[in-house]
Amino acid sequence: MNFAINHIRSQFPILHQQVNGKPLIYFDNAATSQKPLAVINAIKEYYEQYNSNIHRGAHHLAQLATEKYEEARKIVASHINADEREINFVRGTTEAVNLVATAYGRKFIKTGDEIIVSEMEHHSNIVPWQMLCEEKDAVLRVIPITDSGELIYEEYLKLLTEKTKIVSVAHTSNALGTIHPIKEMIAAAHKVGAVVFIDGAQALPHTKVDVKDLDCDFLGFSGHKVFAGTGIGVLYGKEKLLEAMNPYMGGGEMIKTVSFKGTTYNDLPYKFEAGTPHIEGGISLGAAINYINEVGLDSITAYEHKLLEYGTQQLSTIEGLQIIGTAKNKSSVISFLVNNIHPYDIGVLLNEQGIAIRTGHHCCQPLMDRFGIEGTCRASFAFYNTKEEIDGFVTALRRVVAVLS
Ligand SMILES: Cc1ncc(COP(=O)(O)O)c(C=O)c1O
Repeated sequence: MNFAINHIRSQFPILHQQVNGKPLIYFDNAATSQKPLAVINAIKEYYEQYNSNIHRGAHHLAQLATEKYEEARKIVASHINADEREINFVRGTTEAVNLVATAYGRKFIKTGDEIIVSEMEHHSNIVPWQMLCEEKDAVLRVIPITDSGELIYEEYLKLLTEKTKIVSVAHTSNALGTIHPIKEMIAAAHKVGAVVFIDGAQALPHTKVDVKDLDCDFLGFSGHKVFAGTGIGVLYGKEKLLEAMNPYMGGGEMIKTVSFKGTTYNDLPYKFEAGTPHIEGGISLGAAINYINEVGLDSITAYEHKLLEYGTQQLSTIEGLQIIGTAKNKSSVISFLVNNIHPYDIGVLLNEQGIAIRTGHHCCQPLMDRFGIEGTCRASFAFYNTKEEIDGFVTALRRVVAVLS
């Protein structure tokens, strides 16, 4: 693999530690990713040199903080090929979905309208729509999936009718790693006049996402999964749609004028950014995106694909191990079960050997129900992981299985 892995790993201080006397192997990247020095230093610099509230400030620190925060917005916009006015900083993917369900849904969804999600969605891309449907007496429709963990495309097409107003699907599944054919899905939804929200939480850390090429109406993602700090994320929306929506929260910053006769709202994107924002979070996101672009997203995608292939092949040599989610198009996530061993027990014993994986339902209970299981073990790789770590993981897993069988 032609990838400067040693240099890359040197940029992630957290990776170089022992856990339970063993070198840490961090395979829980789908839950949250680790932070490079570029991000850690950006946060440190903010607090050491120019911490201040942004916008409205006449003084030096306020101006500097505002510049850096707005610079981050530009970086995000250019990264996904959007306009700055279309980039709303939010807390994460969860807030992005809730913002659209509330500010778009409350205004435009009527009794009997239909919203489509898939059986494979994260709870944050199910529950806000259920709440909206309950409030509006609308109907939630669900795209079923195959045994290999792919959406049944023909069933999706059948669900699309003139009643469909919103389609909300993940670009990539956090639980199985399946990459969905979203470009085609968006085009099909547009034919019936529906708007499409793409949950990009598991896509942005691994691949290029171009909102104009996809023609999605909304895209949400979380900073902490894309190597930035926690509590920051992005809602992209087409300007025309954002303009048509009511504000999500009221307060400072989202207004132009306030009086007891009436209030006028600020221009995009500030209309959706009430209150003091997560300033260093936004700055860290700008630094993270610059960093992955320096490494090169195409190289990251290609390298991680090799890790996925190698990991899949190596895990398949363990007797009794079943991979849940064998779609043709996958990101670097491997969900698995071994015999009747409880995933949690595997997770605990792997931790004793310094290995971090995630176990449970991965916030996808309907998906687990579909497979008739309670949960899985999930190993998810980032571009700082290595084949050698996969070898260490597989050897440790063999030991764990022997102990628990
Ligand atoms: C596919 C997907 N959607 C949404 C979320 C929610 O992201 P957050 O908790 O950062 O808001 C996650 C987090 O795991 C996810 O993987």
